[in-house]
Amino acid sequence: MQYRFLGRSGLKVSALSFGSWVTFGEQVDTDLAYDQMKTAYDAGVNFFDNAEAYEMGKSEVIMGKVIKKAGWKRSDLVLSTKIFWGGDGPNDTGLSFKHIKEGTEAALERLQTDYVDLLFCHRPDLYTPIEETVWAMNQMISEGKALYWGTSEWSAEQIRKAYDFAKQEHLRPPLMEQPQYNMFHRDRVEKEYRMLYEDIGLGTTIWSPLASGLLTGKYNDGIPEGSRLDLEKYSWLRKQLLETEEGRAKLKKVKKLAPLADDIGVTMPQLALIWCLKNENVSTVITGASNVKQVEQNMSAIDNMDKVDDAAMERIEEILANKPGEEQDWRG
Ligand SMILES: NC(=O)c1ccc[n+]([C@@H]2O[C@H](COP(=O)([O-])OP(=O)(O)OC[C@H]3O[C@@H](n4cnc5c(N)ncnc54)[C@H](OP(=O)(O)O)[C@@H]3O)[C@@H](O)[C@H]2O)c1
Repeated sequence: MQYRFLGRSGLKVSALSFGSWVTFGEQVDTDLAYDQMKTAYDAGVNFFDNAEAYEMGKSEVIMGKVIKKAGWKRSDLVLSTKIFWGGDGPNDTGLSFKHIKEGTEAALERLQTDYVDLLFCHRPDLYTPIEETVWAMNQMISEGKALYWGTSEWSAEQIRKAYDFAKQEHLRPPLMEQPQYNMFHRDRVEKEYRMLYEDIGLGTTIWSPLASGLLTGKYNDGIPEGSRLDLEKYSWLRKQLLETEEGRAKLKKVKKLAPLADDIGVTMPQLALIWCLKNENVSTVITGASNVKQVEQNMSAIDNMDKVDDAAMERIEEILANKPGEEQDWRG
């Protein structure tokens, strides 16, 4: 495993990490979660990602039980949770001071831990002033409930506003952002956040590196039974990824990437994960899996990074044909 600094901090996260969205509490019970997390841990994963919203807290309960059963040292782990969707009450959603405090405390109880290493604002809240959110996140750190805080799917402008306010008020600024990033979803990480890496030392913990499985090639010949896009609850995702013109165009590209992967001697999941890992602004690639074999396959990506050399990256780029534009040099 490789370990990378999380942005401009002294914290090291495994380049491949493991998260529980869709899976824990839906496809994966506590026993299987234990086997999966143990496999990831044994491969060197130290960062495990969660959210209060995942299966309405059930996912955190499962992760907490697994960590307790495994008996891992807390200092060997980097645990996260994300706050935004905590329930149905008028104050159970969003990034008010009240929900951040109550949501974080409930999550810690479910995870059976005194603190999370990383606390994320799961989405921007259009109704809470950013200043209130920054202050609340700073308070969670002051109370020892989190060590670092960050955002997920915030615009560069929102991140910078939070950062500037925190600096001005001598509060803890956001350190990391959790954006979607994969071969089909590039603009934010490669373009929009470009200046934030330099200016504020933003780290990224990227999600859906396999585009929910599309990039494994498993949907090239239809929808396998029991796969994510076969789940009734996630029919919205199936529609988005497979039943739109955009989705069909992506599938065509995956079919072209498959022989390339074969040619250079990696599997499709490995190719897609390595492609993400090659971006130096990615601190960690959060993987997800519905069984242990997938965890093993995904962890093996790290040992095959050399196979995806510059020439291979160029061939991938030709197939994807979606590289975000460079900043225009108007001086010519
Ligand atoms: N901040 C956010 O808003 C946000 C949003 C989403 C996710 N996340 C985080 O990011 C993590 C990863 O996201 P993700 O689960 O969407 O990642 P992903 O890698 O795009 O998709 C993972 C899914 O793909 C399939 N898969 C994985 N490895 C495979 C393999 N080797 N061969 C075949 N199929 C394979 C599995 O689904 P099936 O076997 O069921 O097909 C697995 O559950 C989440 O767990 C969560 O922690 C964060």
